[in-house]
Amino acid sequence: LPDPDATALTDGDVALRLPRPGASSDKYRRGVVGVAAGSRRYTGAAVLAVGGAIRAGAGMVRYAGAAEPVAQVRARWPEAVITELASANGDDAADPGEEIEDVGRVQAWVLGPGLGTGPEAHAVARAVLAGDVPVLVDADGLTLIARDRSLLRRRTGAPVLITPHAGELSRLLETPRERIEARRLEHARRAAAELGVTVLLKGSTTLVAEEGRPVRVNPTGSPWLATGGTGDVLAGLAGALLAAGLDCYDAASCAAYLHGIAGRHGPVAAGDVARALPEVMRSVINRPRQRR
Ligand code: APR
Ligand code: MG
Repeated sequence: LPDPDATALTDGDVALRLPRPGASSDKYRRGVVGVAAGSRRYTGAAVLAVGGAIRAGAGMVRYAGAAEPVAQVRARWPEAVITELASANGDDAADPGEEIEDVGRVQAWVLGPGLGTGPEAHAVARAVLAGDVPVLVDADGLTLIARDRSLLRRRTGAPVLITPHAGELSRLLETPRERIEARRLEHARRAAAELGVTVLLKGSTTLVAEEGRPVRVNPTGSPWLATGGTGDVLAGLAGALLAAGLDCYDAASCAAYLHGIAGRHGPVAAGDVARALPEVMRSVINRPRQRR
């Protein structure tokens, strides 16, 4: 790449950074992921984000949401620990802050896929972002932040990773999508600086930007990934790496790398990408070291 401040990860770099359980590991140390996603209309996004996190080897996934996605996640992922949120169901008497606290301890949140953008979704987003653990914000979560910047400003301490495609970044930066597509690297950097977050900008080439660090250009990936729901799987996968203790920059770039390999072969549905993750992670971890 012409840009001197851009770098690419290799298999070896990713293998070094991926969490590997040891004899003293338990599910809490491996990382508990909270997933606040899905809504009455979009139940699949919740199923896929939870699936991405589970297949990435999270120690535990705690799902929180409205009744409809709760039923779907419960049916599809017996591994998940589930909390139905009265506030997500539109119960005005419920306190979203308290409900999110009651979900239990999580080490990183995934917020936004299919969440909706109405007042219930806003209340859930606000409660999740008020906490003190890293938060990955995707999809509808990004729309909520674009409309109400105070959701981010109120935050102290723990970092935020955002995972927009160009359209979502366009709303966040109030910049036409074509301008972003023409200069993706520059706009990913600008978003990182202006919002004070790590940015994973999705597209045919995925970029990871964080202030003070070189932009990472993802070398894997495939146009087969351009199918509904693969973004939700990526969010769950990156959330699992965050919960395992990787920083936002490494979690984002390792997730993009693995996701790109998982989508490489032939037509895939988003669920196939999630199902491919264990094998992809195994192969990256076990691949013999290449001579440099
Ligand atoms: N080449 C390689 N990878 C691609 C390509 C491509 N041409 N196109 C897309 N991808 C990858 C992206 O990098 C990303 O990892 O596929 C994934 C798509 O993620 P999203 O854009 O988040 O799409 P997703 O949320 O799964 O589904 C589309 O998003 O904006 C909403 O309303 C839209 O419901 C739709 C949903
Ligand atoms: Mg998406």
